[in-house]
Amino acid sequence: MEMATDRPEGKPEEASDDVSEEPMISMDKDDIVLKDKKTGKKRSVLDIGWLFKKGAGITKLARDEEVDEETLAEMKPMERLRYRRKKQDREQLKGHKLYEIPPINEAEWEIFEDIDTIRPYYSHTRLVRNKRTKELVYEAIEPPLTDEEKYLHGYLKSQLEHNIELDRTDADEVENELRLRNLMRKFLSQAGKKVDIVSFERIFYYLSNYFLGYGKIQVMMEDPEMEDVSCDGTGIPIFVFHRKYKNTRTSVVFEEDEELDDFVVGLAQRSGKHISIMHPILDATLPDGSRLNATYGKEITTKGSSFTIRKFKEDPLTMVNLILFKTLSPEMAAHLWLAVQYGDTMMVSGGTASGKTTTLNAISHFIPPSSKIITIEDTREMQLPHLNWIAGLTREKKGEVTGQSIDMYTLLVAALRQRPEYMIVGEVRGKETMAVFQAMATGQVTYATIHADSVSAIVHRLENPPINIPRILILGLNLVLLQAQVRVKNKRTRRIKDLVEIVGQDPVSQEIISNKVYTWNPAKDEFRFSGHSNLYEKIMDREGFTTEEITEEIHNRADVLRWLAYKDETNYQEVANVVNEYYRNSKPIVERARKELTSLRLERPELKL
Ligand SMILES: Nc1ncnc2c1ncn2[C@@H]1O[C@H](COP(=O)(O)OP(=O)(O)OP(=O)(O)O)[C@@H](O)[C@H]1O
Ligand SMILES: [Mg+2]
Repeated sequence: MEMATDRPEGKPEEASDDVSEEPMISMDKDDIVLKDKKTGKKRSVLDIGWLFKKGAGITKLARDEEVDEETLAEMKPMERLRYRRKKQDREQLKGHKLYEIPPINEAEWEIFEDIDTIRPYYSHTRLVRNKRTKELVYEAIEPPLTDEEKYLHGYLKSQLEHNIELDRTDADEVENELRLRNLMRKFLSQAGKKVDIVSFERIFYYLSNYFLGYGKIQVMMEDPEMEDVSCDGTGIPIFVFHRKYKNTRTSVVFEEDEELDDFVVGLAQRSGKHISIMHPILDATLPDGSRLNATYGKEITTKGSSFTIRKFKEDPLTMVNLILFKTLSPEMAAHLWLAVQYGDTMMVSGGTASGKTTTLNAISHFIPPSSKIITIEDTREMQLPHLNWIAGLTREKKGEVTGQSIDMYTLLVAALRQRPEYMIVGEVRGKETMAVFQAMATGQVTYATIHADSVSAIVHRLENPPINIPRILILGLNLVLLQAQVRVKNKRTRRIKDLVEIVGQDPVSQEIISNKVYTWNPAKDEFRFSGHSNLYEKIMDREGFTTEEITEEIHNRADVLRWLAYKDETNYQEVANVVNEYYRNSKPIVERARKELTSLRLERPELKL
């Protein structure tokens, strides 16, 4: 059953007799009107502001008009794709409108957040709330198809399935879309069918999602507000993790086991892997960098195939974002910055989805610009602005015809031979952990994430099977960040609860001695500095600085980060630029930051940073 939207004209992937028994939002053909003034005809056609609303500072250009080659070349791949695609879409549509957005059934639903355009002209979203149950539903709004269009869609899909060869590795979807349109024209004329532009483009929308995109979940995959998309089985609505609304039900459901099974197989193929009854569990990376976890059939997940996609962020979160989220304070970020510069080894630990990888990536932006960096991961998540960076990825043998499988351990050993200045390991779990700690013990600056909730839990995990690291090696680890999902004022959010230094070992009890440099106080939602840090001593020894000088250094860096936060300068390239500038010559940038902070604080008193 379609959960929130009833599309009387149906969706093409579904059999035409599949009509919802009880529409929750009705779409009456006679009173279809676009009520929203903001997205009135003209503006919705030209409005591409949505593309850039997540982008930070430097990319916030209005790109309604033509851009020159140079600007185009500077755009990020996805941004360029969207720009070119929009242009192509506009040319194809020639000013026609594909459909009117259906109104909601006001007896049962109320609008919680009105129309947001995802793919201009083609797809939109809206958040609606059930008046009775108060449940929020994320509605994916896509072009409706008439019976004739549904028939043509079916015909074209089967023709194309046998005849289309798309180069998906190239990932230039704009070229692929052009080819798809051309093939559609060819098969339509072969069948002697003539359709108008609007029908053609409506059918094209579904075919391009099917062949080039993510089919039924396309809208969510394209929505920049979406963090996760997950499906728990047949007949259960797809759930998303929305940046603003957190876990939210959607209007999209896979109705049939077969449809869902095929979809999961398709996702696996797209990531170059294989899923089946024989190999029903899959962990993979989709071409756009998103992370995929899937199960196949009813053997291991009784409700049918399932999947979770953690979407790849085009703009990774930076320290400035984390400061704005209050995951940590500017002073803590400054401390981490110094820790990076002075070669502390670090581990970010926490539960599932506590934000470990994100924090690790944000910390890496503090690495001085030309340092040699090697990252080692199972799935590609790290995004660094550095040029001297080798990104290593493990490989499973399963499902591949040739080639050896390469695990983390092998990659790590190879990486160490290349003498990186900084080595970043996605997540340690198995035998590679020993290699990481051996490397740390020899002074190799290494960062990693680990799944554990406290320092004692980390030590326990490390010292016991399958990892079995001797305690003496654990002392090679300098700094542990304990991150968690917590509730603040009844809202779920993320905090670095403790920044803990591993100081040494008690000679008598052999216990590990640690020092909490910063601690989060849940009652006040504030961070407290203990007044003491091993890192300070290390810097004093090395540079001959006094405590006051180091404290000043922390304040300077904290103010620079604060300044970026007040300016909403969150883009990772931009953050890295400022960090580099600071490394080159800190004084002018600190002065500028302090000067501007005074007025910025008055402009945004609510930020309280
Ligand atoms: N500090 C934060 N504030 C808000 N959202 C965050 C924060 N850190 C991470 N996120 C978001 O939370 C999700 C999970 O983050 P991330 O992948 O870093 O977690 P993780 O702990 O590494 O997860 P896993 O256990 O699966 O490895 C991502 O969508 C990310 O964008
Ligand atoms: Mg992770």
